[in-house]
Amino acid sequence: EIESNIRPLTLSDYIGQTAIKENIKIFIEAAKQRGEALDHVLLYGPPGLGKTTMAGVIASEMGVKFKVTSGPAIEKPGDIAAILNNLQHGDILFIDEIHRMSRHVEEVLYSAMEDYCIDIVVGKGPAAKSIRLTLPKFTLIGATTRAGMLSSPLRDRFGIIQRLEYYTMQELGCILKRTAAILQTPITEEAALELAKCSRGTPRVANRLLKRVRDIALIKYDNHIDEEVCTKALELLSIDRNGLDDIDRRIIQAIALQFKGGPVGLDTLAAAIGEERDTLEDVYEPYLIQQGYMQRTPRGRMLAPKAYETFELKTL
Ligand code: ADE
Repeated sequence: EIESNIRPLTLSDYIGQTAIKENIKIFIEAAKQRGEALDHVLLYGPPGLGKTTMAGVIASEMGVKFKVTSGPAIEKPGDIAAILNNLQHGDILFIDEIHRMSRHVEEVLYSAMEDYCIDIVVGKGPAAKSIRLTLPKFTLIGATTRAGMLSSPLRDRFGIIQRLEYYTMQELGCILKRTAAILQTPITEEAALELAKCSRGTPRVANRLLKRVRDIALIKYDNHIDEEVCTKALELLSIDRNGLDDIDRRIIQAIALQFKGGPVGLDTLAAAIGEERDTLEDVYEPYLIQQGYMQRTPRGRMLAPKAYETFELKTL
């Protein structure tokens, strides 16, 4: 399947996140040289920056099995116990959205991460007894959009903590050209940069955008992606020349018009635009803040001067 090749499998194919790659490369080589499992890794940062991809790259560079799950998918302590008990020496267990695990599940992880053992209770009532299972030395890679939401006992058990950053236009341009080549759709340099500008600093958005542009190139043009195709596609997708979409604009307009520029609380704002609080906080807000359209203050969210200038809104 061509689609599954979009994700790089090696550090040298992974574009961007230079500082993380440099660190990880050393830690991987050291672990390999000693014949040990890699220390537990916490990857954090806004969604779509390649945390899962990076975890997969680490697994293939280590030459070990890669098992994927997520915080919300692990409902009971028994679920995580079963997953851990099936691991082999050196395997990587990736837990996405690790901040969304229940307290009871999290507690199982403490001893698993630190001492490679879990205590499980068998039987019920007076006959119940606790037995200790020894686990192979494994590596946990946790990913979260909010490192601040992890309890400190959990955070403290990660030996390697890395923050992923938004990608530069150059990096996104390279990712777009790489993906276009894999998808066997020619793209011009100018078109790649045009799409990069509208990708919110993230490969996920860049590759999603590219797939739609590719559809339009196939159906309405001659299957080549140039600036004209991009302009048409961005228009169809309601993405403006600043790379903002309908929801971004709704957020900015709501703060400006309904809340007089703010400050407004996150829940109030989410209700006003009809989006979920978490989506607003994790997906939309970080980019709007990073781009200088919006500010987070102790009293709530406020528009920044750039929003007034860009959208020609009246200052109140
Ligand atoms: N596809 C998605 N993320 C990528 C990255 N960081 N490098 C290369 N290709 C990617």
